[in-house]
This record gives sequence, structure tokens and C-alpha cells, in this order.
Amino acid sequence: MSKEALLKLENKELTLPVIVSSENERAVDIRALRKETGYITYDEGYGNTGSCQSSITFVDGENGILRYRGYPIEQLAENSDFVETAYLIIYGELPTKEQRKKFRELLSEHAFIHERMVYLFENYPRDAHPMAILGAMMSALGCYYPTLATNDSKLDLENFDDAAATALSKIRTIAAMTYRMSRGLPIIYPKRDLGYCENFLHMMFSEPYDLYECPPIVAKALNMILLLHADHEQNCSTSTVRMVASSGANLFASAAAGICALWGPLHGGANMAVIKMLTDIHESGDDGSKFIEAAKTGKARLMGFGHRVYKNFDPRAKIIGRLADQLLDALGIDDPLLDIARKLADTALKEDYFIERKLYPNVDFYSGIIMRAIGIPLNMFTVMFAIGRMPGWIANWHEVASNPKGRIYRPRQIYTGPTTRDYVPIDQRG
Ligand code: CMC
Repeated sequence: MSKEALLKLENKELTLPVIVSSENERAVDIRALRKETGYITYDEGYGNTGSCQSSITFVDGENGILRYRGYPIEQLAENSDFVETAYLIIYGELPTKEQRKKFRELLSEHAFIHERMVYLFENYPRDAHPMAILGAMMSALGCYYPTLATNDSKLDLENFDDAAATALSKIRTIAAMTYRMSRGLPIIYPKRDLGYCENFLHMMFSEPYDLYECPPIVAKALNMILLLHADHEQNCSTSTVRMVASSGANLFASAAAGICALWGPLHGGANMAVIKMLTDIHESGDDGSKFIEAAKTGKARLMGFGHRVYKNFDPRAKIIGRLADQLLDALGIDDPLLDIARKLADTALKEDYFIERKLYPNVDFYSGIIMRAIGIPLNMFTVMFAIGRMPGWIANWHEVASNPKGRIYRPRQIYTGPTTRDYVPIDQRG
């Protein structure tokens, strides 16, 4: 296969190298384009643009494949847990027993937040959105742990292990404290002897006078939800993290920007939209049939269906759908929303409208049902996504910060405003 592309522009011919990825994806390398021809490319939404070379996550949307560092998501979901998978994503290899033990200890050590940060919670309005608080508190970590956030890449990389453990461990503490404060409940501090997910649920649901006992199936379900969200290559929030990191900004500032990007309904907010949709269907007395008809005529959108990249089953949705059944059975919960979700999925997968457009359930279709069953409130769903995505943000920050040839991300634009004109004094305007 040719390793070059030939571009003819006006009367000039330019030979452009072709880059082939380790999974055989091909890209035309246009880095010399503007210098050689004066042209730039136009790709609003970046649907055809490789913004970086990365060795973290591989997605093949046509074939429904997702791999972290080469390991299929199905194998990780079956055999691993969130902390081990986070280590894999951040450091590139599955940990040895010793490495895993040390990583868990580091996460325990960094689980507490600076006591003065706890006072910050008191100043947010009681009804503030948890994602607004999470973004602000992630950024504030740079104030309270300044030695981990110097914006000197060399120094920040030397302290990377502590910064990564701080971000990964404290995001969970901050999330739980946000929930407690919003409910007017006393803050529950993390416990050293609990696993990552058990500790989060303890900080959410224990009371000073009554410890929460976590059923193993609940810890398993939460582990799975976080693991399945741990990275997803160059999505909106992750490319935002890389963009900010490219200026030399520290990990906490970059991750805070990722949290802001995730908040939007087209990205991390979709898991809430699914539950709202299922609730509306249930309250209207529909079993899902009328809703499918409305979706087919463009009058409604089947939330939790369709994906920009997956044109086949989202592999995460298959795993999460099975988990929803297991969890609700084990907890003896009869959730009418799960019945409606199943009916919607079964019907939609047989309908030409969805088949022709290659619309399949995505990760958000069942994740909300699981979070509801665990007791996570609706306005915390996107926060859960952020906790899960943290390993991916950390790994992507590291890839940018440690690239010796890295350049600041600075796209061009096609300017469509007025051409030059003279300043008009105010009394002559109108
Ligand atoms: N229900 C009904 N029709 C749909 C849906 C849907 N969920 N998704 C796409 N379509 C139709 C759309 O109307 C269009 O039809 P036509 O060709 O007749 O105009 C066609 O399918 C192509 O859709 P599109 O909007 O061009 O696709 P996109 O790649 O721009 O959008 C999407 C992808 C995920 C935003 C979209 O499928 C959607 O809005 N889904 C519902 C929201 C959702 O579940 N989002 C979570 C995504 S996964 C989490 C993450 O990675 O952040």
C-alpha cells in the first residue's frame, strides 16, 4: 500500500505522508500543508481529524470494539475492577500484585481532602448543580496542593504519581461531600480499610450513628460502571483535557476543564436524559410502543440510542444491560423503568428506522437504571461519569505533558466576519 497521498491544489502538487496506526487505521499527515500551499483544512466537529497520536484506548465503532491499552473491554469487565483498570490506563500495563497494593495504598493515603477545602462546600448555594461544584473543587486542588500543580511540566511530571492518586481519589471524596452538603447531611470522612467503590458508598450513605453496609453486588455494579467509563479516546472532555494540558497547565486545571466539557447534555448529561425519558413514558401510561412511533417520525429522540462513533452495538451497553438485570434481581427491585427500557430496546432493534440508521443502545441506556438501584440521585449521574473518566483524563494529560515534541494545541479557523472597515464615531452610528 502506498504510504503517500498526492494533493493537487491550483497548479501545485504536494506529496503528503500517510501514517498507519498500530490497528491499521490510515491518516494523511497534513502538517506541512499550510507552509507549503497556504491552505488549511476545514473539519468542523473534527469528525475527520486525528488531533494526536495516542497509545491509550482503541475504539472501532464499525465493529463495536473498545480496548484499553490493547485489552478488550469485555475481558476487563469480567476479570478486573476499577482501580486495577485505572492503573492500566494511567501506567500502560496491568499492575503486578505489589504495584496494585501500592497503588491502592496511595489512593487511601490521598482520599482525605485538606480540611480547609471542606469549608468551601459551605459557601455553595444548597441547590448548586453537583457538576458545577465538582469542576470548581477540582480546580481548587491546585490551591491546596500547589507542589503537585506548579505548571512546570518537569516538576509536575516528577510528582505525577501523587498528583494522579490525588485526582483519582479525591474526586470521589469531593463528589460524596457535594451530595451530603446538598442534603444538609453531616460530612462522612473516608475510611482507610475500604475499597475504592465501597469507600465512596460509605461517604455517600453512612451516617455518624449508622454505618452503610455495602452488598457485594452493589460494589461490583459500581466498579463496572466506573470501569466501563474509564476512557473513550478523543471524546469532547478528553480532547478538552489535552487542549488545556498542551499549554503546560497542571493536571487539576486540565481535569477541571474536562469536567466542564462533560457536563453538557450531548456528552455526560445523556445518562440523566435517559431516566427522564423512561419516567415520562411510564407516567404517561405508555409501555414504550407509542414512544418508538414518535421517535420514528422525528417527534421524539430515543435517548441512550445512537452514537457518533459506534455504528454497531456499543460493547459497553451489552455488558451494562446484563448487569442491570443481575443487580435488580439480586436486590429484589422491580423497576418499571427497566421493563420499559427492555421493551424499547427490543422493539427498536427490529424497526427499519433504527436498523437503517445503525442506531443501537449506547452505554447510557442502562447505566442510569443501575445508578438508581444503588441509590445515586439523578443530578449526580454525570458526576459518576466524571469519577469513572478520571483515569482517562489523567493518562491523556500525562501523554501530552511528557511529549518532548509537544506543541500547544492551536487550531486555525475560516474567518467569516466583515473585512477591514474604519472606526465610526458614536454620533454617526445608527
Ligand atoms: N433517536 C432517534 N433518531 C435518532 C437518534 C435517536 N437517539 N440518534 C440519531 N437518530 C437519527 C437522526 O435523527 C438522523 O436521522 P436522519 O438521517 O433521518 O436525519 C440519523 O439518526 C443520524 O443521527 P445524527 O444526529 O446525525 O447522529 P450524530 O452522530 O450526530 O449523533 C448522538 C450522535 C449520540 C448525539 C445521537 O445519536 C443522539 O442524540 N442520541 C441520543 C443521545 C444519547 O444517547 N447520547 C449519548 C451518547 S454516548 C455517551 C458519550 O459518549 O458521551
